[in-house]
Amino acid sequence: MAQIYARITGTGSALPEKVLTNADLEQFVETSDEWIRTRTGIRQRHVVAEGETTGDLSYRAAQIALEAAGVKASELDLIVLGTTTPDIIFPSTACLVQHRLGANGCAAFDVNAACSGFVYALGIADKFIRSGHSKKVLVIGAETLTRMVDWTERETCVLFGDGAGAVVLEASSEPGIYATCLHADGAYKDLLYNPVGVSAGFNDEPNHGVRIHMSGREVFKVAVKTLDSLVEETLQAAGMEASQIDWLIPHQANLRIIEATAKRLNMPMEQVIVTVDKHANTSSGSVPLALDYAVRSGKVQRGQNLLLEAFGGGFTWASALLRY
Ligand code: COA
Repeated sequence: MAQIYARITGTGSALPEKVLTNADLEQFVETSDEWIRTRTGIRQRHVVAEGETTGDLSYRAAQIALEAAGVKASELDLIVLGTTTPDIIFPSTACLVQHRLGANGCAAFDVNAACSGFVYALGIADKFIRSGHSKKVLVIGAETLTRMVDWTERETCVLFGDGAGAVVLEASSEPGIYATCLHADGAYKDLLYNPVGVSAGFNDEPNHGVRIHMSGREVFKVAVKTLDSLVEETLQAAGMEASQIDWLIPHQANLRIIEATAKRLNMPMEQVIVTVDKHANTSSGSVPLALDYAVRSGKVQRGQNLLLEAFGGGFTWASALLRY
């Protein structure tokens, strides 16, 4: 039987209108544009308006991706949405978006793998297509991480932003996703986490204790090391050499982490998609936002090989090597 591949046939993304620059942050937290830029590469981030949700951004990104693919929502047989900031506890944001799109009846669920959410979702969708279960799948990565940011804590509040990206995957005899690698190690929970929730309970701190706890320097070190071995593993799984990769599309958390991964692959920065300067870290939104930017700016062309990778709380880490 001929091999079935999952091919990206359309991409889309959505950002909130409001932009918060580093200079804006200087007004209410003790930081500087210079500190943020040199440590992270971030210059600005987008922030949701009052009442604007992860589902709203997802819906906008999904509509654009469906249009680009020429696929009607009613044709979808699966929606997988990576997020750690769902609109409500349940139903899943995937279900909320499914109904707004008019894709009622297909399977729909969220994946929480923190910043690796989109690449996890892509890996899962790939398996559904390869197994013959699904033919047309919508994969979304979307976050409103600023909803859980403590704007008085300079160590974290300068790093994050909001946004969403989406792709339509279709079954094809042409490649396609060659390989995906998904990993997690819960032993690292205490380095990056949000401590409250429905089952553990909330507390009397501001915002009911909902805030990001992060040991930045340790996260940095583990991320660089882990991504090094992840890219090696992915190349092996796909049976490829680093020289065959046309574009690296990494998780956009920190320019220094991105540069370290590119160096490991011996790739010049001209072959790396960088959006962290404009979007900051949008968690699950980051990779599909960068992919959509790369496609729409004409950088990524059909037939090129793309290496997508992400790292996040859990820790989780994941990659996908595909022909666009
Ligand atoms: N503005 C100014 N100063 C800041 C600051 C800010 N926004 N945030 C922290 N500082 C200060 C600290 O108070 C500390 O001061 P001290 O040395 O007097 O104690 C100092 O800057 C910290 O410096 P350093 O530890 O050298 O920073 P760094 O080079 O490790 O950069 C991060 C900090 C957070 C940018 C970096 O560690 C990082 O990006 N880590 C990974 C985080 C990440 O990607 N998380 C998401 C993963 S999905």
